[in-house]
Amino acid sequence: MRIADDTIEEVRRASDIVDVISQYLQIRKRGKNYLGLCPFHQEKTPSFNVSPEKQMYHCFGCGVGGNVFTFVMEHEKVSFVEAVRTLARRAGITLPEEGPGGRGESTEHEGLYDACKTAGLYYHDTLLHSVEGKLALEYFRHRGFSDATITKFGLGYSKNVWDGLVSMAAGRKLDILPFEKAGLLLRREDGSCYDRFRGRAMFPIFSPSGRTIGFGARKMREDDPLGKYINSPETPIYLKSRSLYGLAQSKEAIRAQEFAVLVEGYADLITLYQAGVENVVASSGTALTEEQIQLIGRYAKSVTLVYDADSAGSKATIRGVDLIIENGLDVSVAALPEGEDPDSFVKKNGGEEFRRRLAGAVSFLDFKASTFRDQGLLATPEGKTRAVRSIVETIAKMKDEIKRNFYIKHVAETYGVYETLLFRELEAIVGRDRSRAAYQHGGPVPPPPASGGLSLSAVRAGLPPPERDLLKVMLEEGPSMVAFVATHIPPAAFTDPLARRTAELLGKHAAAGGRWDVPAFLDTLDDPSLRTFIADIMFNKYELSRGWTALDDPDPWLIAESCIRRVKAVVLDGLIAENHRQMKSAEQEGADLGPYREAHIRLQSEKKELGRLRLIDSPARK
Ligand code: UTP
Ligand code: MN
Repeated sequence: MRIADDTIEEVRRASDIVDVISQYLQIRKRGKNYLGLCPFHQEKTPSFNVSPEKQMYHCFGCGVGGNVFTFVMEHEKVSFVEAVRTLARRAGITLPEEGPGGRGESTEHEGLYDACKTAGLYYHDTLLHSVEGKLALEYFRHRGFSDATITKFGLGYSKNVWDGLVSMAAGRKLDILPFEKAGLLLRREDGSCYDRFRGRAMFPIFSPSGRTIGFGARKMREDDPLGKYINSPETPIYLKSRSLYGLAQSKEAIRAQEFAVLVEGYADLITLYQAGVENVVASSGTALTEEQIQLIGRYAKSVTLVYDADSAGSKATIRGVDLIIENGLDVSVAALPEGEDPDSFVKKNGGEEFRRRLAGAVSFLDFKASTFRDQGLLATPEGKTRAVRSIVETIAKMKDEIKRNFYIKHVAETYGVYETLLFRELEAIVGRDRSRAAYQHGGPVPPPPASGGLSLSAVRAGLPPPERDLLKVMLEEGPSMVAFVATHIPPAAFTDPLARRTAELLGKHAAAGGRWDVPAFLDTLDDPSLRTFIADIMFNKYELSRGWTALDDPDPWLIAESCIRRVKAVVLDGLIAENHRQMKSAEQEGADLGPYREAHIRLQSEKKELGRLRLIDSPARK
């Protein structure tokens, strides 16, 4: 359930981080902070810091960090809501058990949740206790769903009439507006309402915490003119990009088994779950979103896709793969025989056989490479170039340099491709993506290089110091600084993926208004690695100030100015170098060098301009 923001604030204020953490471990005052042995990794000398001033913690040993809520979440392995409850109990604050939250929005949401819950029970009841429902019940049984499964997933049936739900609501004197807003009823021109779902097998869709938020509805009759499945529309409580079918039932198994099986269909999920493969979620036939991946990432860091070579939906899933990798999760692929989906496969071969397929899943890169090999691409030079480029495109999405190197070597060895070729392609792709994101440039930007000159060390695993300082200054100073930095260095210009996301989210948080509070900002982040990243920045000095011994407490606006200039200079240097390379190869091909010369002059003069810019005279500075 949802806890009102005000209540969360109240609990936060009542839970001093030093008091709370001292209940779990021994910490001793050292300077401004408290220090102890980190509970999240094995250590002999203490490197776990708690700051009463920032109300945050950070371990210099393993890098974890966060606020009082994340500490409880991670220490006790509980959800955010449970952590708030634990701390509320400790502080003697009573939370409402259920029911409307503190804001108007929550009250409206509660109405929609109620409508969905009521409708779900009505459909379920219709399935079990009506004459017409018998047919659907037979259908589910025919598909092999047990009674326990039907109950567990709350399956139901919507009668083939225009006013099933409408009359049920009228009979109970319920307000029908929430039903309409929840997408369950549609309105005619004369103002009356009718059922959206008619004559269909109903699959309730739950939020991760188990509340009904929408429905998937499967066609039962041949003469039904609508699609095989129709689904609830997007509503304030059913945000499709943030929902995953089955997660409410499967999250504990995903956590326990440390990976999630990703399938497409409602029936696939249910059949697998019933066969004992409980760590499964379904994308319900749509392309995977970043938010869905982050949702999975809360429970496990690996995803196994079940690939059905035939279906169009699988292609959508495969497209989501790069996104999974970008979000730092591992992906592997389990193949099924042509034309089989997980549901039909399990029906034919049983759960054990399916589990063997899962055990035989290969990394996504192996999957990609072996597909290319099977297509004969690796046998010809042109094919090889295409294949290598595609494989390296995926590797380039990995944030971790060690991982990237590992996969490059692995692909080189396994598929007989020269390692240097792969590395060169990688450098080219990383260089290209960087310059593209770097900044919105006027005039023609030279095309991407065929093979790169940017060295891998320039690509670097870590975060460039000026980017780090920019994030720190934004975090410390709040909205006007966030806006100031964004006008000069938009989030996309940050080269480091975590930095880019942080800059984006800071922008959103600043735009939302309200008091600037970093611990509260952390609560808006789903991804623990982001929280850790931010805590690390908060607990460390400005990189820049390391060289400025004379200035212990530098002016944040000066820091921002200097960093903006340095980030822009790096970007410009990259563009200049790339342009130079382009010019060289154009020269060899005897092409027109004019555009490259012009670009060179323009870039050089922009670089000169940079030195003269007086950014801090900007009106943003108050
Ligand atoms: P499939 O067409 O593969 O169906 O769509 P399925 O899951 O195997 O369905 P059964 O076994 O015939 O019942 C995969 C998923 O794509 C979504 C649904 O979530 C479905 O489970 N889908 C499909 C729709 O949303 N609308 C459609 O018209 C079809
Ligand atoms: Mn199917």
